[in-house]
Amino acid sequence: MNKQIAVLPGDGIGPEVIAEAQKALQAIEKIRGHKFTYVPVLGGAAAIDATGNPMPDETIDICKKSDAVLFGAFGSPKYDNDPNAKVRPEQGLLAIRKRLELYANIRPIYTFPALIHKSPIKKEIVEGADFTVVRELTGGMYFGMKGRTEDGKTAFDTNIYSVYEIERILKCAYELAMTRRKKLLVIDKANVLASSRLWREVAQKMAPEYPEVETSYMFVDNASMRIVTTPKDFDVMVTENTFGDILTDEASVITGSMGLMPSASIGVYTSLFEPIHGSYPQAAGKNIANPMAAILSAAMLLETGFGLKEEAQIVTDAVNKALADNVRTEDIAEGKAYGTNEVGDYIEKCILETK
Ligand code: IPM
Ligand code: MN
Repeated sequence: MNKQIAVLPGDGIGPEVIAEAQKALQAIEKIRGHKFTYVPVLGGAAAIDATGNPMPDETIDICKKSDAVLFGAFGSPKYDNDPNAKVRPEQGLLAIRKRLELYANIRPIYTFPALIHKSPIKKEIVEGADFTVVRELTGGMYFGMKGRTEDGKTAFDTNIYSVYEIERILKCAYELAMTRRKKLLVIDKANVLASSRLWREVAQKMAPEYPEVETSYMFVDNASMRIVTTPKDFDVMVTENTFGDILTDEASVITGSMGLMPSASIGVYTSLFEPIHGSYPQAAGKNIANPMAAILSAAMLLETGFGLKEEAQIVTDAVNKALADNVRTEDIAEGKAYGTNEVGDYIEKCILETK
């Protein structure tokens, strides 16, 4: 298979972990005879420094022409600590989401047997939990009208959704549910919000089109409690942008480490794959960042982006082997801590040794 991958390492630990993810992909090319072409692109703080723009047009053009985007993270303390900064790296993230119409953010939540004791939640509650959050990514408060009144004393953000946007994300969630245990939970705040009532209306209309899927509804406050009390009850959850942002950070504690969580953002032109841990600037350049989430994002790229299920499994198995063999970075190490590149090398070797 011949494919083009736009590589957007971004800021902080992004370049270090993406280098390891790329190694894993190259190992897959070798053992399975694929040909991937990697095109490096700029974005985030690195792009502000170089061009003044956190998401240059050239990056968008190359991404649109690529079969997938492998993304690290955006964000830098240089901008976080400057309230007067006119452009911020995060704007680059919102811009790429909007311009590539990356409307469906898929965040799988599952536990790793070797790390179960790392979760702050009791083992019997989290063991075997396996669900996926489908977060709407290009609408809602993030992109609705926002601003301040003239006197500067009042500010607002508008949580806006159209039927079209709700239908396309629900369809994606239903299709995913069909490949899993066929349970879909729509999370909203329909007892208070007009936008949530529209979500529910659209979902109720669509549910009969998927008779095999059991559709249920839950208010977001209740869902936030259930995620940590009964995580095994869930299969696929779908929700709007802001709720999804909050719930996925919360859900990440189930796995025991954010350093392991990959994600996919499905778009109209292409899809983007990224670890959810962010730029973690304190660790940048120290060779201590955990590359596993980025490597698992590469596995999602193979499966969700290219339909290469077997190859994705090889990468996932190699990560599990590294975990089992205690080849881990300091965030999850038991005993000796390995460097980012050593963990990546080990995973690469495991992939190359796969028959
Ligand atoms: C995420 C992040 C972003 C978001 C930020 C960095 C804009 O928290 O991907 O979840 O809020 O979507
Ligand atoms: Mn977030």
